[in-house]
Amino acid sequence: SSRVMLGPLVAAIDQGTSSTRFLVFNAKTAELLSHHQVEINQSFPKEGWVEEDPKEILQSVYECMERTCEKLTQLNIDISNIKAIGVTNQRETTLVWDKETGEPLYNAIVWLDLRTQSTAELVRIGKAHHGLVYSKTSCPLCVCVCPLPQCLTGGKSGGVHCTDVTNASRTMLFNIHTLDWDPELCKYFDIPMEILPKVRSSSEIYGLMKSGSLSGIPISGCLGDQSAALVGQMCFQEGQAKNTYGTGCFLLRNTGAKPVMSDHGLLTTVAYKLGRDKPACYALEGSVAIAGAVVRWLKDNLGIIQTSTELEKLAASVGTSYGCYFVPAFSGLYAPYWEPSARGIICGLTQFTNKSHLAFAALEAVCFQTREILDAMNQDSGIPLTQLQVDGGMTSNRLLMQLQADILCIPVVKPSMPETTALGAAMAAGAAEGVSVWSLRPEDLSEVTSEKFEPQINPEGKGHVKHCYLISK
Ligand code: G3P
Repeated sequence: SSRVMLGPLVAAIDQGTSSTRFLVFNAKTAELLSHHQVEINQSFPKEGWVEEDPKEILQSVYECMERTCEKLTQLNIDISNIKAIGVTNQRETTLVWDKETGEPLYNAIVWLDLRTQSTAELVRIGKAHHGLVYSKTSCPLCVCVCPLPQCLTGGKSGGVHCTDVTNASRTMLFNIHTLDWDPELCKYFDIPMEILPKVRSSSEIYGLMKSGSLSGIPISGCLGDQSAALVGQMCFQEGQAKNTYGTGCFLLRNTGAKPVMSDHGLLTTVAYKLGRDKPACYALEGSVAIAGAVVRWLKDNLGIIQTSTELEKLAASVGTSYGCYFVPAFSGLYAPYWEPSARGIICGLTQFTNKSHLAFAALEAVCFQTREILDAMNQDSGIPLTQLQVDGGMTSNRLLMQLQADILCIPVVKPSMPETTALGAAMAAGAAEGVSVWSLRPEDLSEVTSEKFEPQINPEGKGHVKHCYLISK
């Protein structure tokens, strides 16, 4: 059969906490043509510790790339049309490897890990240093590295050891004002500066793929996953915001060329810098540690569902938590509390409570946490959001989306293509100087279809739905 003629294609590697994905988009229409996903194992060697195997992560990236290429070939799409690859990744997860052998020294320590809590506490007690760290990094104390560009461009034999400004801004070693590693912070945390990757913009050619079916293709986009989702949602204007429901849940609001410090428990991060000579753009971020992870916990730890999709059916079968509340503070509480010693609770149980109520309470927990960060965001900016753009795996849960609109009392808008994180990385890669195959502007994508969930209750809690939310401000 004949080849499908499509023009240039752009790919993205999305290495998230729970899974790795490789996706290929049409650079003229942003249509997703094919993808492959592999789940990542997590280990919990001690209470509060969360680790992943770096070799498994790298292997999953290669596997996703090769399987997607096979799928494209089966669709008669020529993989030589892939002109660039973007990389987006879970942020803060830290990995150290031997420069000579290319071997990791230990597992990747995942962003959810709490082992450095006591060290963070010591820094917090030394208030002078806490002020120093906060003024330069705007990170609350708790402690990314994106090793993928180096491995993919050749590893120990000449791979490019680099990361981008968005990833660097999550390390507590990077000065978000000067956009460089900060010698004072590195000295304070006793990190030799020479082991840190070179920091580049989020959109430029870093190097070429060294092996596999896509060997020779430039890697030209690199962003932390939450920044990539902001780009993929086209939130380029100051004031625009998105919320991504992944393992955790992260609401980012574009604050333009200036970093804005929060008075309400949010953090300030570099949102993107789309080109070497382009200015950096900043965002205010509300981070929730546990969103999709609560579904995995109900599946793997409690066994009340066999697959993630069963949760919606189970919760919908009762349509209420019946007074049961679930606070999934498995790794402490993030924004706006930043309380690492908090732990999860389930309360309000009666003999009537069953697993369906617990399932409903788990979905409510995700929505209530989002409500808290939205309130903080509105208070910080003084301009309330009038709708919330959402994306990520959990947004396929329609009950969750409706609950979210009800609990926020504003519409929730979800694009029909939920892989916004990967789209953002593909956009950055395709638009890079020397690649320039992605010229789509937000207005070109105005026909991108989306679905709007309107709140079915008013702020006073009166409405025609079964559940009713009275949230005191
Ligand atoms: O800061 C951690 C964040 O980047 C993880 O994202 O999608 O894996 O929950 P996700």
